[in-house]
Amino acid sequence: MAQGSRPKDAEEYDATPYVPEGGGLKALREGAAGCHGCPLYREATQTVFGSGKASARVVLVGEQPGDQEDRQGTPFVGPAGGVLTRALGEAGIEPAQAYITNAVKHFKFEQALRGKRRIHKAPSLREISACKPWLAAELRLVAPEVVVALGATAGKSLFGSSFRVSEQRGVALPMPSLDGGGDGHGMLVATIHPSAVLRADDAERAAAYAGLVSDLKVAAQLLQ
Ligand code: URA
Ligand code: SF4
Repeated sequence: MAQGSRPKDAEEYDATPYVPEGGGLKALREGAAGCHGCPLYREATQTVFGSGKASARVVLVGEQPGDQEDRQGTPFVGPAGGVLTRALGEAGIEPAQAYITNAVKHFKFEQALRGKRRIHKAPSLREISACKPWLAAELRLVAPEVVVALGATAGKSLFGSSFRVSEQRGVALPMPSLDGGGDGHGMLVATIHPSAVLRADDAERAAAYAGLVSDLKVAAQLLQ
């Protein structure tokens, strides 16, 4: 393998050299399929790029693909996607009208000690920032009226590491401007990640879900 074709140390983590300069979502998707901008591509099955139309009025940003998404190549097709689809419906956002993507495009996991189960690991700030050029390019091309940040990773990608979902959720925030895309137009609403609903214990699950729906309604209202 040629020297320099793999990131050698953390400072080099950056998707920028892989992002095509022109073209639409198709060109981006093709470029992302070969991204080696950070080490996460090595263990994952494939890049899971965003899905939806460039004309979408709302972009939903998750964390990273999960096990099912990694196998199928499409974001939010696993259990968290089920929660998200139901919550979007209740909030009055048609999932087909949304562009759905993740802050990080490869699945990060560790192998369970026994068995074949792959256990989700949260992406590091370095990986989030390495992958951000893809998200910025998607936002530049889709130029949505509203961005929904689903959980802390999406919030940190868009606002920086000091972002706290618990403090900033459920209100319309001005969209920050991003290097290389996302021109700072439009609004952003943050909420919890749908998988937080799945992880909540029985006593808290209904309230967690209701909170997700209520935050998504704030986004829905901005689209009216
Ligand atoms: N969780 C995410 O953040 N994104 C997905 O695509 C699936 C689960
Ligand atoms: Fe590239 Fe992002 Fe995958 Fe890292 S996670 S290899 S930056 S697409």
